[in-house]
Amino acid sequence: MTSGIKRIAISTGGGDAPGLNAVIYAATLAARNRGWDVVGIRDGFNGLLVSDDYPGGGLIELTRQRVRGIIHQGGTILGSTNRGNPIAYPVQQPDGSWIEQDRTEELLGRFAQHGIDALITIGGDGSLTIGNHLHEAGLRLVGVPKTIDNDLEGTAATFGFDSAVGFASECIDRLFSTATSHSRIIVVEVMGRYAGWIALHAGMASGVHAILLPEIPYRLEPVAELINERAQRGSTYSIVCVAEGAKPVGGEHTVAGQSIGQAVRLGGIGAKVAAELEELTGRESRAVVLGHLLRGGSPTSVDRLLGLRFGAAAVRALDEGRSGVMVALNPPTVDYVPLVEATSRLKTVPPDCDSIQAARDVGIRFGDES
Ligand code: F6P
Repeated sequence: MTSGIKRIAISTGGGDAPGLNAVIYAATLAARNRGWDVVGIRDGFNGLLVSDDYPGGGLIELTRQRVRGIIHQGGTILGSTNRGNPIAYPVQQPDGSWIEQDRTEELLGRFAQHGIDALITIGGDGSLTIGNHLHEAGLRLVGVPKTIDNDLEGTAATFGFDSAVGFASECIDRLFSTATSHSRIIVVEVMGRYAGWIALHAGMASGVHAILLPEIPYRLEPVAELINERAQRGSTYSIVCVAEGAKPVGGEHTVAGQSIGQAVRLGGIGAKVAAELEELTGRESRAVVLGHLLRGGSPTSVDRLLGLRFGAAAVRALDEGRSGVMVALNPPTVDYVPLVEATSRLKTVPPDCDSIQAARDVGIRFGDES
């Protein structure tokens, strides 16, 4: 190919997800095998924007040696942040307050200064929206979809999701035995701000009795009714899986806090649901929050393979002269969708999809039953 590329950068932004290192591995080797130099930017774009904060510099030379043996490692060897948006960069004022600055031009200047011809940016909705902005501002760029939440449009799956669902299922399996021993209700809270894919898939795979999703506002009365019916039949325990973004009918998200430069942090819905179910059923309840455990650990082979395919496809896209696109799983192949399309809306769980129908068919409640 005659892409004219000599040096590319790779960045990882937003919440981490198992499989990031597989993407970095494949992109690095695919680029080096084309004779390109490859650098990694530390912590999203912070390695370029606040490079003085990094002893040794904010760029990591991605050599064959540097990426050796990283496919199975969780996290990202580049570091990540959800506080480094170059379009609205958080800057603290002398009086302690915060303002946001658009540092796009400065960032583009740093790419040029370091001789970087193109960027592969690996991220979720937020990072890829930034990527689209940088592409429109003139940077040659290809995005790679990452998120355990699986909520990106334009791709059949994001890497990280399979690992998160697998681990959540394993945890829920374990909760079954203790819930049975103690005749308790256990409410498991999993990540998923606006999309309940993890709760739905892990909950179904583990055979829970109720699943509460952001997409289906719930009432707890039908859930309590099922729990009581189960108890009458001799099953004195029940398991409920709730996504952190689930909301009661007419209610709001349960918010754990807010930090500068970030969206509100959700959390606490599990404890709330457990307390209310205890009240409604008179049965002892406990809540467990899986939270960031779902983002940690080694990727499953499914996520490793997806990461490798995405990383290599991103390099092929650059080599073919593409920019402003995201690599996307379109089974059985990987192809490209415009970033602007992929970030135009979130992929949430369709309330009438076959998985929800299957769950209802086997008796799982969603809290919207009359
Ligand atoms: O990775 C996406 C996500 O897992 C969301 O479901 C969750 O709300 C968010 O990350 C929390 O991220 P952090 O605690 O890093 O801000």
